[in-house]
Amino acid sequence: TTVEWEAESYDMGGHDTYMHKEISEQADAVDRVLRGRIDDRFSTVHLGGLNLDAREARGVRRIKILGCGTSYHAGQIGAQLIEELARIPADAEPASEFRYRNPVVDPDTLYVAVSQSGETYDVLAAVQELKRKGARVLGVVNVVGSAIAREADGGTYVHAGPEVCVVSTKCFTNTVVAFALLALHLGRIRDLSVADGKRIIDGLRRLPEQISEILGREDEIKRLAAEYADAKSMMFIGRVRGYPVAREASLKLKEVSYIHAEAYPASELKHGPLALIEPAMPTVAIVPDDDLLEKNRAAMEEIKARSGRILAVAHQVQEKADHTIVVPKNENELDPILMGIPLQLFAYHTALAMGRDIDKPRNLAKSVTVE
Ligand code: AGP
Repeated sequence: TTVEWEAESYDMGGHDTYMHKEISEQADAVDRVLRGRIDDRFSTVHLGGLNLDAREARGVRRIKILGCGTSYHAGQIGAQLIEELARIPADAEPASEFRYRNPVVDPDTLYVAVSQSGETYDVLAAVQELKRKGARVLGVVNVVGSAIAREADGGTYVHAGPEVCVVSTKCFTNTVVAFALLALHLGRIRDLSVADGKRIIDGLRRLPEQISEILGREDEIKRLAAEYADAKSMMFIGRVRGYPVAREASLKLKEVSYIHAEAYPASELKHGPLALIEPAMPTVAIVPDDDLLEKNRAAMEEIKARSGRILAVAHQVQEKADHTIVVPKNENELDPILMGIPLQLFAYHTALAMGRDIDKPRNLAKSVTVE
């Protein structure tokens, strides 16, 4: 597939910042990554450039995903999707850590390099090292024809369109959707049933409308951002599917507002970070309506008992939280795609109220092409 990037030109289209423009474009961007790829007849998806036939896909024993920053967080959700849908052991690791620890490169492992720009040096160097050792590397990349896309053996473009703001938003969402497609594709070659394939496809098709619904709550999210803007520091918690969402939301807030933020698995609170909880350190809790709901409620209870303020992102109003941003429910596996979106707006409005340079936060570059 080719991408029509002209449709979303570099002009601001009435938005004050690229960050706001790019957050607002996400329903269309997701629609674009899905377009032309769904095969209803076999309840699967076709990803043209993978260069991995069914026999080769069946031979994959592990998947290792490499990326930096937001792309690494998208890869963490991608690894969970692959384990859930394709039942292939998968994990994500920062590309820089990977390349400096002289990793064991295993011929039955499929390596996946994730990058918006396709030019991040640490990712590119990891890909080159892997190729030198004879590994098969796929790219999940946004910029067509970029260095990582060219270096990889195959892969898929995430079709987010141009992302100008240093802070990645729409590309994160589209990258996670691209991983859902890859996971579905691998799953249907292996043990994912037709019925489950259809369930995921139906869920993917609901995403653009659900994203629009979330973006329609911007005024409410802006009010909440004002409510928490006095925070010196913020804690973000989640469990399993919610944990990478918490990490990404925490990165968004610090990059754009410069408010210090920490992300922890909710289960780790009692092993240390609970000591930080007090009214000046509010918590954002990712609370999906899944089998871990009660566990997440218990974590919120522990925070409340220490006078911590809580903003929940959930599928229903949470009694333990001071405020809840309610997001539409999708299939459990796809929930992380939607739960981060209100927190992009939360970070944006916090930074706006603080007068930050939203599109070009201090000390950061859009793509880090040096070591
Ligand atoms: C995202 O908000 C960041 N500015 C940053 O973490 C970024 O995701 C990272 O540098 C990786 O960039 P890439 O996706 O272009 O490789």
